[in-house]
Amino acid sequence: MRSAIYPGSFDPVTLGHWDLIQRAAKLVDRLVVAVLHNPAKTPAFTVDERVAMLKELTAPLPNVEITTFHGLLVDFAKAQNAQFIVRGVRAFSDFEYEFQMALMNRKLAPELETVFLMPKEKYSAVSSRLVREIGTMGGNLSELVPEALRERVARRLAK
Ligand code: PNS
Repeated sequence: MRSAIYPGSFDPVTLGHWDLIQRAAKLVDRLVVAVLHNPAKTPAFTVDERVAMLKELTAPLPNVEITTFHGLLVDFAKAQNAQFIVRGVRAFSDFEYEFQMALMNRKLAPELETVFLMPKEKYSAVSSRLVREIGTMGGNLSELVPEALRERVARRLAK
């Protein structure tokens, strides 16, 4: 069984994340979307909120599971019996960080392969950080957040 982990903060989930989940789900038997639980950070959305949104979004995809993780990604991936880590690369600016992370993860766990996928180019500039910024100021999230979650994200950020 081919299993992959798609890890991230998903604070909140964007159209770019959703595009990537759908692409990755087609490549493997089991895709585990894993929300990082980092007590050192104060996210805009709680881990439970992020998990709930991802579960709702991915409900039509039978081979996608949503969970949380803490600690090292490679330890979590091994515990899940995953062979692959999936990450999205939107633009050149993502490359440096992703490259470092992939090589470090390879040092830590050579048996795990990082696979990079590119979302649709129309999502190249979409990020959770921009969603938070625009949402907090009451801006339009229609090009940024999946429709099913848009209202909830907008309401929550505008608070
Ligand atoms: O969505 P993000 O914030 O870009 O995701 C970053 C994430 C969660 C993939 C990364 O921070 C991570 O893997 N954290 C877990 C701790 C870890 O394994 N660190 C070493 C990475 S080389």
